[in-house]
Amino acid sequence: MSESAGKTLTIAAVLCAVCSVLVSGAVVILKPRQEFNADLDFKKNILMSTGLYSPGADINEIFKKVEPAVVDLDSGEITDIDPRTFDSAKASKDSIPSNIDSAGIKQRARQQVVYFVKNEGKVELIVLHLVGKGLWSTMKGFLTLEADGNTVRGFQYYAHGETPGLGGEVDNPAWIAQWKGKKVFNENLKPAIDVLKSKVPEGIAHAENKIDGISGATLTMVGVEGTFNFWLSDFGYGKFLEKFRAQNPVAQAEVSNEN
Ligand SMILES: Cc1cc2nc3c(=O)[nH]c(=O)nc-3n(C[C@H](O)[C@H](O)[C@H](O)COP(=O)(O)O)c2cc1C
Repeated sequence: MSESAGKTLTIAAVLCAVCSVLVSGAVVILKPRQEFNADLDFKKNILMSTGLYSPGADINEIFKKVEPAVVDLDSGEITDIDPRTFDSAKASKDSIPSNIDSAGIKQRARQQVVYFVKNEGKVELIVLHLVGKGLWSTMKGFLTLEADGNTVRGFQYYAHGETPGLGGEVDNPAWIAQWKGKKVFNENLKPAIDVLKSKVPEGIAHAENKIDGISGATLTMVGVEGTFNFWLSDFGYGKFLEKFRAQNPVAQAEVSNEN
């Protein structure tokens, strides 16, 4: 090997070593910052579903009102598992019988984190995590219900791969706005969200459960409806919401007034 080729190889090797030290150093140094930003983004999405977020707001400050808890979906009880360390992705999963799997997810963790928004110790809002298939992707989001455990305050997807301008319109604030005030259960307290092909006609019966569809996105809409109705069923948060209503006088009064 000539002397100049040896030098070139030595320089290349030194450069590689320096670059790998720089890249690994950057990863280590930036990790806390990335974790901080991921945590802030997660909180922001929860707050967006509650309607408590506004651009420029201090997310950590508003999030002080939010109390997470781990719920056992089979019993509907709040567990004593620490929600700060619980990871539902790593928790043991149950298969979902295909005849009730309208979310198309095949399995779900028995325990899930729910978030209570409290004011002076009283629950004002309940935030539920939802996962379900759209046309192209698994769509993940948060649904916020009022203290009656039935009325929608808002919702927000934070991850999906639907087509921008078609299924991706699930992120359109104008489409999301119509959900506020809708009821997720019918008068028999069965999951009843019904996403129509187009606009909800004036005066139609049970309009409180019906949502305007997005044109050109019927298959994503089928996914949204299936996701909501699965997670509100007894295999999802149904038992938890039933227990919550039984223990919460506000929820009991509001549900009986509606019937
Ligand atoms: C490139 C491409 C992307 C599409 N993306 C979506 C989508 O994200 N969600 C969806 O429901 N339909 C999507 N569609 C349309 C579906 O194939 C189907 O035609 C549509 O869901 C039917 O809805 P409509 O009855 O409202 O027209 C897409 C079609 C094409 C060609």
